[in-house]
Amino acid sequence: MAGHGEDAVGGPARHIPVLLDEVLAALAPVAGDIVVDGTFGAGGYTRAILDRGASVVAIDRDPDAIVAGRALEREAGGRLKLVHAPFSELDNHVDAADGVVLDIGVSSMQLDQAARGFSFRADGPLDMRMARKGPSAADVVNRFKVGDLARIFGFLGEERHAGRIARMIEKRRESRPFTRTLELADAIETHIGRNPKDRIHPATRVFQALRIFVNDELGELARALMAAERVLKPGGRLVVVTFHSLEDRIVKRFIVDRSANAGGSRHLPETISRAPTFTSAGKAVAPAEREVEANPRARSAKLRAAVRTSAPARAEDLSIFGLPRLPDASKGGD
Ligand SMILES: C[S@@+](CC[C@H](N)C(=O)[O-])C[C@H]1O[C@@H](n2cnc3c(N)ncnc32)[C@H](O)[C@@H]1O
Repeated sequence: MAGHGEDAVGGPARHIPVLLDEVLAALAPVAGDIVVDGTFGAGGYTRAILDRGASVVAIDRDPDAIVAGRALEREAGGRLKLVHAPFSELDNHVDAADGVVLDIGVSSMQLDQAARGFSFRADGPLDMRMARKGPSAADVVNRFKVGDLARIFGFLGEERHAGRIARMIEKRRESRPFTRTLELADAIETHIGRNPKDRIHPATRVFQALRIFVNDELGELARALMAAERVLKPGGRLVVVTFHSLEDRIVKRFIVDRSANAGGSRHLPETISRAPTFTSAGKAVAPAEREVEANPRARSAKLRAAVRTSAPARAEDLSIFGLPRLPDASKGGD
């Protein structure tokens, strides 16, 4: 099924799977395996895993991706189960797995559809919700306190003009709330200006920050890693592809934490050492030059992998990730 140059609905390819060969090498799926693909997207990884004879439980929080994947599900003759859910809940949908793979971020279909509001390359509603529910990017921009906006842009976009942009937004939305992607991008460009030496548009980092915030992407990833620890069998493989340093740091911290002996709780007098739950499968893998030439989206990709040991899963503790303290997106800025 893989390599047909077609997506899950059989149309022309729109999303080129990134680091596919490297993912397959790290995951090493064989007939009879059960693999969780937590980011089904256009089904690029899932098709290749099915081709190796394994069964796949494929998850996506985007209802469009699930609808587009139904044809592949029928074609797979019972070896593919599609689940519409966030991947942080992957352990609700499978009891035990030989592999878990995550390909973090947005798909080309999401980016290229102006109506989803992820991009300012074409005008669209300021939305950015992968799951098509909950507060949108416009809700955040129009309702959140200026200090919260500055922290979101600073932490999640690593935007050095975070405060200035947040104050501009606060002033401008009083008379006219933001509703469109181009409106926000133009307002940022006008306010900050554009250095001709900059390779990226001045709104790029704010858009990245809003997308990560609206979809709670860092919290989702952190919880998914803990869920993967609970479902992977001894010898099972965890493979994660990320696209920027905030995500890669989370994966790296998890693998470092889980591949070391852990002490007991700080609050207990005695320290009970707990055995590692994973063995690192080595250094991060980057795409080869020819992949980046063929698919510029692969440029910043990094793959990390680890193999599950037989030690029991540890309690869920998000403090190991040092996630930034930000307001709760679902509270709508109150
Ligand atoms: C980069 S694409 C995956 C592409 C896929 N590997 C392929 O080869 O076609 C990421 C997909 O993951 C989904 N996604 C992102 N975060 C998610 C989450 N927390 N839970 C479930 N799906 C998520 C997005 O909706 C998107 O469809």
